[in-house]
Amino acid sequence: MSDLVLPVRSIVIAVDGPAASGKGTIARALADYYGLPHMDTGLLYRAAALNLVRFGGDPGNEFEAVRACDLGSVSLDDDELRSELVGSYASRISAYPAVRAHLLDRQRAFAAQDGGAVLDGRDIGTVIAPHAEVKLFVTATPEIRARRRFDELVGMAKQVHYEDVLLDIRARDERDSGRAAAPLTMAKDAILLDTSAMRVEAAIAEAIRAVARSRSGPRTSPAR
Ligand code: CDP
Repeated sequence: MSDLVLPVRSIVIAVDGPAASGKGTIARALADYYGLPHMDTGLLYRAAALNLVRFGGDPGNEFEAVRACDLGSVSLDDDELRSELVGSYASRISAYPAVRAHLLDRQRAFAAQDGGAVLDGRDIGTVIAPHAEVKLFVTATPEIRARRRFDELVGMAKQVHYEDVLLDIRARDERDSGRAAAPLTMAKDAILLDTSAMRVEAAIAEAIRAVARSRSGPRTSPAR
């Protein structure tokens, strides 16, 4: 790999992190800033989950979950993708290696497109794009993440209790980190961005600084 810094428009940025850490907001802002296409990979798992809900499938059944990965007519713009039921189905079916394998090519192709891309998810820096030039791992305490998710749901006029949202966040963390297939883990060469004490604008500014720093620093060979 050359020591030259790539032009800004040819860069892959991987943004990983746990539920409601703000990784999606940060990834979108980085994509805007650098003029890159962005993929929220969680939406693919959510789309498979929504498909499963619609055909009355069981998230405990791997065969049915894999069948739901043929996304067919599910649109990635569907509002229902954001529902809590779909989120919890997504979290369960994403633990199946066959589900992950099914959705892999689409994500890798997105990361490999000319000019680069920004992807956010759980395993972008470790599995989907291990050679990404910049990897961020965005996190915050479970309580803060639950508060953000709670505010978001209330903003969508949903009736929820903070304690239930916190329980859900903890359960997702456990499933995402504990699964054998592509568990949520920080890549060795990722930059940690703890947004617990940051407002969204500050977190975005910090992410842009981190990307700029890592692009101007010495290039080391990518680690896993
Ligand atoms: O709401 P949250 O940020 O947790 O969810 P999301 O990013 O939309 O992803 C929904 C679920 O898909 C997560 O709970 C993860 O278990 C799973 N997922 C994954 O396993 N790998 C990814 N690259 C993205 C999401």
